[in-house]
Amino acid sequence: MSSTDPLLDVSGLTKHFPIKGGFPIRRTVGAVQAVDGLDFSVAEGESLGLVGESGCGKSTTGRLITRLLEPTAGRISYRGQDITHASRKELAPVRSEIQMIFQDPYASLNPRQTVGKIITAPMEINGINPAGGHEARVRELLETVGLNPEHYNRFPHEFSGGQRQRIGVARALALEPKLIVADEPVSALDVSIQAQVVNLLQKLQKELGIAFLFIAHDLAIVRHFSQRVAVMYLGRIVEIADREDLYGNPRHPYTRALLSAVPEASADDTPARERIRLVGDVPSPVNPPSGCRFRTRCWKATDKCASEAPPLVRVEGSREGHLTACHYPEDPQSVAAVPKARGASSGPRLDKAAEDPGAGA
Ligand SMILES: Nc1ncnc2c1ncn2[C@@H]1O[C@H](COP(=O)(O)OP(=O)(O)OP(=O)(O)O)[C@@H](O)[C@H]1O
Ligand code: SF4
Ligand SMILES: [Mg+2]
Repeated sequence: MSSTDPLLDVSGLTKHFPIKGGFPIRRTVGAVQAVDGLDFSVAEGESLGLVGESGCGKSTTGRLITRLLEPTAGRISYRGQDITHASRKELAPVRSEIQMIFQDPYASLNPRQTVGKIITAPMEINGINPAGGHEARVRELLETVGLNPEHYNRFPHEFSGGQRQRIGVARALALEPKLIVADEPVSALDVSIQAQVVNLLQKLQKELGIAFLFIAHDLAIVRHFSQRVAVMYLGRIVEIADREDLYGNPRHPYTRALLSAVPEASADDTPARERIRLVGDVPSPVNPPSGCRFRTRCWKATDKCASEAPPLVRVEGSREGHLTACHYPEDPQSVAAVPKARGASSGPRLDKAAEDPGAGA
């Protein structure tokens, strides 16, 4: 890896799931275009948020990057190394550096194994033998995630939802990852507990320098956790920018509509945005609209939008690194007025940083 390489670089990333049909011979009769040509990168230690409505391809993106799914096209490069189609063997050293945390802490932990066994497993599989032994390392990891090390021999059902998610985080940390793909890690949790788990992840990002791809459908949560945010719609990125630019100066109509539905996502000192109600559902990714995929729900769509897919580019009035895919971007707003990384005043209470080991979470 050269010093200029991002940790993760993705270009043209595509996943089309074939649809089989026909009798007696099953043939491919179509494809679910779940992810269709994504370009983005994640720098070392950075958190990139990935947001969008249900079904827009967020989880598929996460699963492609962690290579749980095989890409249909495009390129994934990790520390300068092309891992798009790397074999299991070639992937082995990289696999441990890219870990995933899932939405459902219940489903992702084996109910018949103790916490100690669950967290030890990835170390055993990867032949990692910490100096003080596995048990000492697991106790240390439990402490890192705010759990009581004495609960080493307990089973998942003996913990609350938030605590189980912490176990999932400890398991991901066991291999000292450089990048964690967190797929809606707090969506299944109670709102008060969401903040505690997000705070834990934030602590890991800062103290251990771990980069995150943080997947969420909630723009308010991403705002607190990610320095950069990408907005997806129907398999494509429609806008990507630094946090301040995206929330303070959204240029894509879809981003603006999403933000208008989250009052707390707009800055205190900007006037409340007019609520934009999106009509209709997200179209099927089996047969997405031609041109701009958002055009069937966009109030500004013209013939050009139906015939030409807008490229993801920097538009006039946006700062460097702020890219938008729209033929008629929204008017620029002054981002200078938007304070940087404000503390949370609403939404999940992220200012309540109480990391209380063994407490409700
Ligand atoms: N294995 C699969 N086979 C066929 N289609 C799939 C498969 N996995 C996902 N899809 C489809 O791909 C599209 C994107 O799904 P994905 O799970 O990536 O969306 P998402 O943004 O994570 O949604 P959510 O917010 O609901 O989690 C959806 O239409 C989904 O039905
Ligand atoms: S390209 Fe056209 S349809 Fe798409 S978001 Fe922009 S104005 Fe709307
Ligand atoms: Mg998902």
